[in-house]
Amino acid sequence: MAEKAIAALTEAQASEELARLAHELARADQAYHGDDAPVLSDAEYDRLKRRNAEIEARFPALRRDDSPSDRVGAAPSEGFAKVRHAIRMMSLSNAFSDEELQDFDKGVRRYLGLGADEPLSYTAEPKIDGLSLSLRYENGRLVQAATRGDGAVGENVTANALMIDDIPDRIDGAPDLLEVRGEVYMSHADFEALNLRQAEKSARTFANPRNAAAGSLRQLDPEVTRGRPLKYFAYSWGALSARLADTQMAAIERLSKLGFRTNPLTKVVEDVDAMLRHYAEIEAQRATLGYDIDGVVYKVNAIDLQDRLGFRSTTPRWAIAHKFPAELAWTWLDGIDVQVGRTGALSPVARLRPVTVGGVVVSNATLHNEDYIAGRDAKGEPIRDGKDIRVGDFVQVYRAGDVIPKIADVDLERRPKDAQPFEFPHLCPQCGSDAIREPGDSVRRCSDGLICPAQAVERLKHFVSRAAFDIDGLGAKQVEQFYADGWIAEPADIFTLEERFGSGMQQLKNREGWGEKSAENLFRSIRERRRIPLGRLIFALGIRHVGEQASLLLARTYGTWEAFETAMVDAALMEGPAWDAILAIDGVGRVLAQSLVATMNQDAERAVIDRLVALLEIEEAEAPYVADSPVANKTIVFTGTLERMTRAEAKARAEALGAKVSGSVSSKTDIVVAGPGAGSKEKKARDLGLTVLDEDAWLDLVGR
Ligand code: IVH
Repeated sequence: MAEKAIAALTEAQASEELARLAHELARADQAYHGDDAPVLSDAEYDRLKRRNAEIEARFPALRRDDSPSDRVGAAPSEGFAKVRHAIRMMSLSNAFSDEELQDFDKGVRRYLGLGADEPLSYTAEPKIDGLSLSLRYENGRLVQAATRGDGAVGENVTANALMIDDIPDRIDGAPDLLEVRGEVYMSHADFEALNLRQAEKSARTFANPRNAAAGSLRQLDPEVTRGRPLKYFAYSWGALSARLADTQMAAIERLSKLGFRTNPLTKVVEDVDAMLRHYAEIEAQRATLGYDIDGVVYKVNAIDLQDRLGFRSTTPRWAIAHKFPAELAWTWLDGIDVQVGRTGALSPVARLRPVTVGGVVVSNATLHNEDYIAGRDAKGEPIRDGKDIRVGDFVQVYRAGDVIPKIADVDLERRPKDAQPFEFPHLCPQCGSDAIREPGDSVRRCSDGLICPAQAVERLKHFVSRAAFDIDGLGAKQVEQFYADGWIAEPADIFTLEERFGSGMQQLKNREGWGEKSAENLFRSIRERRRIPLGRLIFALGIRHVGEQASLLLARTYGTWEAFETAMVDAALMEGPAWDAILAIDGVGRVLAQSLVATMNQDAERAVIDRLVALLEIEEAEAPYVADSPVANKTIVFTGTLERMTRAEAKARAEALGAKVSGSVSSKTDIVVAGPGAGSKEKKARDLGLTVLDEDAWLDLVGR
């Protein structure tokens, strides 16, 4: 529809257009904030929002209750209640080759202490490309359906799940409590038909069946979900009042008897060769299955072995997804942009003539670093037979699952005559500082983190991100806006925003996209976040190499901000007991420790951190409390040979009971478990008068 000049709009036209814009922007928010693909470019989104605000300014009486101006890029998910999963919804680690699958099997055997020839069976089944959904049944009735969300907290979509034929609302013969987990998906035929219907209604069509399934399940109006042909395969479970069976396969059969659809290609396989054979069989059927799959999932079949293997932070040790090879397509490379990340890394991005790769339109791809563009790997060996990548080239795009697309190859025959080798900038494209490449690093970095606006914005985006401060209403978009306006330059500014604008909230309200309500909501969520757990704070600082997991470990080790800070200062010279103590944290390596200590002792960086910390109330971190655990919060060191379980299993079990496992003995160690062959560590423990247990005594303590 051609847009009229706002001055020329009649009231009726304005009203009609405001309704259309409200609808269109709400959908765009849903698409952007949900897991489904964005449906509008940022520029188009901003343009529509601006037009909406301009029409509202001219016809204030027509401003709608659901005006997009009141939404702060509001996640549509705000429409669903949040649900904390009784047991986290896990993701899967991936294998991309036969070798990686062999490594997985070896790793499982090593962990369990099984020899290469001892029997160990797995299930193998297709990996469905949809979205996972957890169904909670109490006394046979469906009481709750929740999406995965971030794994810990998802969205309550019970009303919508009840609209799906494959999901029974009552089941007979199940344990009193049963959480069924599986995948919601849409078949190819249903997806095509849905897109046709949508197109006829001039409604938005979906890029692929996965997006269509996600968009259809996450509808605020369950009636919309009812009209969408969703399907469900059950493949796992969460909380249970009684075990379903002794093996994965029998548990799946039990779910099938209870009335759930399970995948008919699920099968028990006895070794890696059989796994690979079943993989090939499933891959051969892929095109005729009628729904999207993106690999094969293998799970250790015996449930008691699954229990022993347990979980890493987000993935089970007893399962892996073996992905199908990436999808490929050829297109033109129209340009190379160099972006600057949070840690100053210059990352080249390929701007591509849009091309469909495995059902998804791709217009950007990563080019990694300057060597990659030049056709060399980190060791200087040729990649792509040494072919470099130039603007104007005809390139092969490669996309594996959700991973960012890459450029795999270049067609030299189609290279334009005048194409020039790409000159990687030696100055930061954002602030003009020198971009330096340290010896041994493949990445060139902007050398002035404190004046570089790109780094500042990326650090702020990281600071407000979900695993960090997670401030409702302050997402990447708002951060960019506020930074550009000079409202926030560093994290502390977020917490003085209200003070600086509180009385003059008018200023914020007058901003396009902000209303009184959204401004108040924003200030409230900022206020709520002044109290922050220590681990989140450490992660939010965005220190290079310090990820979410390491931040949590650091928080648990030091407990309070004061203790953490003191330790960092004491370790400034990267030697001595405080330094050794950092290195002794299992999961913290030297590179991480160096980056952390350097940052915490750098004056300018510290000033930024101190200004922030002064405005916060930091919650102490405790080691995870485990009821009745005799070793909760204790520091354990294993040394020598363990005979009843592998070192890895012993460590994982101790951690699951709330203990910290350390690699070195000090006066802070509580228990040393010494097996045969223990040497200096045992001696040191005895010298220090620590408790030293043999493996049997240890097992008596923690239970066999
Ligand atoms: S098992 C603890 N089995 O893949 C085990 N997951 O990449 C949890 N998925 O979040 C998952 N098909 O949404 C499992 N046959 C299958 C699956 C499957 C698809 C999804 C699931 C999970 C994601 C991990």
